[in-house]
Amino acid sequence: MVSYKELGLVNSREIFKKAITGQYAVPAFNFNDMEQLQAIVQACVEESSPVILQVSSGARKYANQTLLRYMAQGAVEYAKELGKNIPVVLHLDHGDTFELCKSCIEYGFSSVMIDGSHHPYNENVELTRKVVEYAHKYDVTVEGELGVLAGIEDEVVAEHHTYTQPEEVEDFVSKTGVDSLAISIGTSHGANKFKPDQCTRDANGVLVPPPLRFDILEEVERRIPGFPIVLHGASSVSPKYVEIINTNGGKLKDAIGIPEEQLRRAAKSAVCKINIDSDGRLAMTAAIRQTFNEHPEWFDPRQYLGPAREWLKELYKHKVVSVLGSAGKA
Ligand code: G3H
Ligand code: 13P
Ligand code: ZN
Repeated sequence: MVSYKELGLVNSREIFKKAITGQYAVPAFNFNDMEQLQAIVQACVEESSPVILQVSSGARKYANQTLLRYMAQGAVEYAKELGKNIPVVLHLDHGDTFELCKSCIEYGFSSVMIDGSHHPYNENVELTRKVVEYAHKYDVTVEGELGVLAGIEDEVVAEHHTYTQPEEVEDFVSKTGVDSLAISIGTSHGANKFKPDQCTRDANGVLVPPPLRFDILEEVERRIPGFPIVLHGASSVSPKYVEIINTNGGKLKDAIGIPEEQLRRAAKSAVCKINIDSDGRLAMTAAIRQTFNEHPEWFDPRQYLGPAREWLKELYKHKVVSVLGSAGKA
């Protein structure tokens, strides 16, 4: 058993409290490799933002959980070396079993998500309560989920949203003891969040996705005032990256994300954690494809991973400064 406290990590309790009072959201960036982690740390140190390093079970399989733990510890030390001791959380994204959450806690994670949203309500409550009981013994914070996002959550694919039912949140929060709650208000995972026929077109013919259900968010806030809310599936899917990918040999179709304006509005509410993975994947792929096209003679991975890291850093800085509002809050 390794305590996250020995690694210099923090749980999410204090940073969420500050985010709610300060009306901003803390970024939760997924990572799988060193370049992504370097970009996240550099961006958050330079902008003085707290950060949640998010690891999916797929990332855990890909990168190895022991390595990930030392990488997170390395991130804390690297941030200090860069001149700023920012709060760093190591969080399990979409944990689906008690055993997985327990194992992550034993490996030094400071926060876990138990995603029981695909189970019937009572099973979700029971599973989440069990994880909370274990996690709180070690002062690890727990995120639960009510409502199902459309799209892919690891191996689980949901065709349609099941919006969170606000009538359930008080009961869920009090029975489980969770520290934060992910809700479904129309976001979804991946780079294809909406089909073109779900969208309208603006005056320039650009597709405009259906707005998020802020009415549900407001009703949730009314029922559990000041409780930390989490938004998954919150990538914006910038047309800039999609175009670079497609003009350099890629074949992305109908890539549509959440407009930044709506994320800004969410960040000012009780939403205090915003999950971003796909935007990073797009920025990285765009940089690598463009570099390959411009320099077909290059074969040293540093020649294409270096630009990918720079593009990622620029993206993360943009998120914390202009979308989430967490810059300067570390
Ligand atoms: O919510 C899903 C995240 O984007 C993680 O994706 O399971 O492919 O690592 P992944
Ligand atoms: P995106 O696919 O929109 O980046 O969402 C990521 C996420 O919610 C990770 O849990
Ligand atoms: Zn998610």
